[in-house]
Amino acid sequence: MSTWILNGQTLNKETGKLETKHVRLDNGVIAEWVDAATLSEPDTAGCEIIDASGKLIAPGLIDMHVHLREPGFEYKETIASGTQSAAKGGFTTIAPMPNTRPVMDTPETIRYVLDKATTEGSVRVLPYAAISKNELGRELTDFAALKEAGAIGFTDDGVGVQSAQMMKDAMTLAHSLDMPIIAHCEDDTLVEGAFVTEGAFSRKHGLKGIPNESEAIHVGRDILLSEATGVHYHVCHVSTEQSVRLLRLGKSVGINVTSEVCPHHLILSDEDIPDSMDANWKMNPPLRTPRDVEACIQALEEGTIDIIVTDHAPHSEEEKARGIERAPFGIVGFETAFPLLYTKFVRTGRWTLEFLLRRMTSDPARVFGLPYGTLEEGAPADIVLIDLEHEREVNPNTFLTKGRNTPFTGWKLYGWPAATIVGGKVVWSQEQGINR
Ligand code: DOR
Ligand code: ZN
Ligand code: ZN
Repeated sequence: MSTWILNGQTLNKETGKLETKHVRLDNGVIAEWVDAATLSEPDTAGCEIIDASGKLIAPGLIDMHVHLREPGFEYKETIASGTQSAAKGGFTTIAPMPNTRPVMDTPETIRYVLDKATTEGSVRVLPYAAISKNELGRELTDFAALKEAGAIGFTDDGVGVQSAQMMKDAMTLAHSLDMPIIAHCEDDTLVEGAFVTEGAFSRKHGLKGIPNESEAIHVGRDILLSEATGVHYHVCHVSTEQSVRLLRLGKSVGINVTSEVCPHHLILSDEDIPDSMDANWKMNPPLRTPRDVEACIQALEEGTIDIIVTDHAPHSEEEKARGIERAPFGIVGFETAFPLLYTKFVRTGRWTLEFLLRRMTSDPARVFGLPYGTLEEGAPADIVLIDLEHEREVNPNTFLTKGRNTPFTGWKLYGWPAATIVGGKVVWSQEQGINR
């Protein structure tokens, strides 16, 4: 059956202007676009109809860094709840990290996640596999078998790979299989015991700080190792000015390096952390200084940082209630990412809508070689309808993720998704909720 999405607003990439169009989906792909000005009502006999008047029709968002927690931490999130949360946030493709229990370090765990995503998931799920067994940094996993099982890249996210030799071996092996290495950059020896950045907040409260070098040392090391091995090296959640400088240098000499940044590192600094030390402000990397925030924004603008990801990291309320020192690192991201960025950067006039969408759709598709992130005829019909004009408050009680851990409670935002379509099927809508 065909579906017509009628009277939606689409972005003309050349002019940057919104135009009213109808789009027909057929067999899971975008079949045809028609200009509402030239054809007021297409022949919709026998078709499903979605009224998109007043809504933006955008490519489904792509999030290449998320935590779904299954297997092992189902009390934090499941593949079902996490993909539903993603759908509500406008995401149609997500890439979960392997720091589950057991760690996704065997073909069996990769297949388990893929099977669960097929039977219980709402969006496309492209899993990463671990670099090292149990993410302990001691022994490499079986990259060839993990690729064969469906892993799209290798990462020990959650921890840094401490040994340079192990990282070099991993890169050499990944390169031979034409697979990327994705790195959480953190030198443990510089971090021990710290949970906020070295900055105004740590000084004020007499806390040991996480220094910027703990991230940038790995970024620099790994860019050199990427040059030596030729691997596609992708840096996770860039948060410091120093990392940005190194990425700029690496790119300028043609090294195969890409990177990502999270909404919270573009919007919040350590100076925003409340004195109550609410653990919903604790994540890794930590919120950095205002200077780092501005460096990350500029790096994204100039293309030194390629894409935006959420690092959606749900934890239970009980875990986050332990106090900032003992609570786990991480905040949820799916259901606030687009409205936050749209409100803070597009409505303020700093970015165009086209730029924000690109960094969340076609750029992640380009970086990871995916066939999504475009609305061209013939492309998979992965679409989000977005209500750009409606203001609403962030209310964690309405989240579909099991996590309530967000620092953005009560923020008034625009740009809320209204419906999400994966492969031509409406998987979530504001009116109907999740459709399985
Ligand atoms: O904040 C974070 N949460 N950073 C990480 O590196 C891991 C993640 C998690 O798994 O909770
Ligand atoms: Zn990480
Ligand atoms: Zn992560």
